Amino acid sequence: MAKIIITGGNVLDGEVQISGAKNAVLPILCATLLAETTISIGNVPHLHDVTTTMELLGALGVRLSVDDKLGITVEPTAMVETIAPYELVKTMRASILVLGPLLARHGHAEVSLPGGCAIGSRPVDQHIRGLIALGADVVVENGFVKARADKGLRGGHYSFDMVTVTGTENVLMAAALAKGTTVLENCAEEPEIVDLANCLAMMGARIEGAGKNRIVVEGVDSLHGGHYDVMPDRIETGTFLVAGAMTGGRVLARRTRADILESVLHKLEEAGAHVNTGDGFIELDMRGKRPKSVSLTTAPYPAFPTDMQAQFAAMNCIADGVGVIRETIFENRFMHMNELQRLGSDIQIEGNTAIIRGVERLTGAPIMATDLRASASLVLAGLVAQGETTVDRIYHIDRGYENIEEKLGGLGAKIRRVA
Ligand code: EPU
Repeated sequence: MAKIIITGGNVLDGEVQISGAKNAVLPILCATLLAETTISIGNVPHLHDVTTTMELLGALGVRLSVDDKLGITVEPTAMVETIAPYELVKTMRASILVLGPLLARHGHAEVSLPGGCAIGSRPVDQHIRGLIALGADVVVENGFVKARADKGLRGGHYSFDMVTVTGTENVLMAAALAKGTTVLENCAEEPEIVDLANCLAMMGARIEGAGKNRIVVEGVDSLHGGHYDVMPDRIETGTFLVAGAMTGGRVLARRTRADILESVLHKLEEAGAHVNTGDGFIELDMRGKRPKSVSLTTAPYPAFPTDMQAQFAAMNCIADGVGVIRETIFENRFMHMNELQRLGSDIQIEGNTAIIRGVERLTGAPIMATDLRASASLVLAGLVAQGETTVDRIYHIDRGYENIEEKLGGLGAKIRRVA
């Protein structure tokens, strides 16, 4: 099984190119199911989750091709298979995102329930209830969500019980082809939802309010293809900036956006970083200083993202002072804390709160990745731990980071992957 081996101690200094956003490209690839003419997607990151989505679309009978610049072209398919099997869905929860598009375009969809997950229980009841509000008949049977709308979906009103990113995306995609007006309330406001809505608008959808709490969709009869470039990955950006901050270094992230990272940049400044932003770039410079501990609470956008919690936990481990981290989105997203302790961190867990007392130094050890962002935090900790850190089960990181060892290596880290 592939591992990453890091020899800690190097100060990062250099430039890194940010890839397209994982959490935008996944719903956008599922949205291609709605198009009646050829659609191409650019700035697609080379990630395992993208490959899984392509396999899933392929299993549904969609014809797609990849060019040498990692653009994906999807040919229109009048008839597709409308059953998404457990074998594919269980490896990636985002597969549930085919439910809304299949149902809206073909009047039928059966998508396996994704099952357990390392970071929390993650039910999909809100996706289902949103689709029922658009007139779908939905049952959960034999481990599948089985949805039907023989006469097509019709516009409706739904207020989400809690803020859900993929729930908002699923119902939004379905509403794009529903007859009449749909009003969605208590929507997630994440930038990836805006990116999906922009792609749908390019396809001819009529959507107002994406990125706000209330979204109004005027259903259209059909959607067409075209070309759409995926937004930059804000979590990948944040991860490299934290890597720079932890090592007391300087990182210039290019092909990214500062406007979607405000809460993260604010916390990095609180940690002592000098942050300079401009058109398409963010530069962080610690001027050789050790970071100061920061306290934070995760919450839906625009508050501090749960997907950056583990990386900031790693930074607090070697920062000056005590940082308190509260996780409010997922009930089991502290799996990295035990592994960080193996490197010598001082962490006390009380329910959904981690109290981290920064230590002067961490020491390398073999550690194990448990989920995507947890593995990123372990790699970051390895960058500052004295000696060698081996991160096992690194396949988790390939789900969401394109060539992380090459990119960190380019910034001056001593890091390699072994089979
Ligand atoms: N929830 C429900 N019922 C639902 C849907 C959600 O109870 O029907 C709960 C969840 O259990 C959770 C909370 O609502 O406690 C929020 O979950 P959400 O639905 O927003 O998460 P998600 O859509 O499954 C996306 C990202 C995650 C990211 C979260 C939160 C994608 C493909 N995934 O997941 O990304 O952590 O939003 O921002 O967009 C990652 O990239 O590492 C990752 C896990």
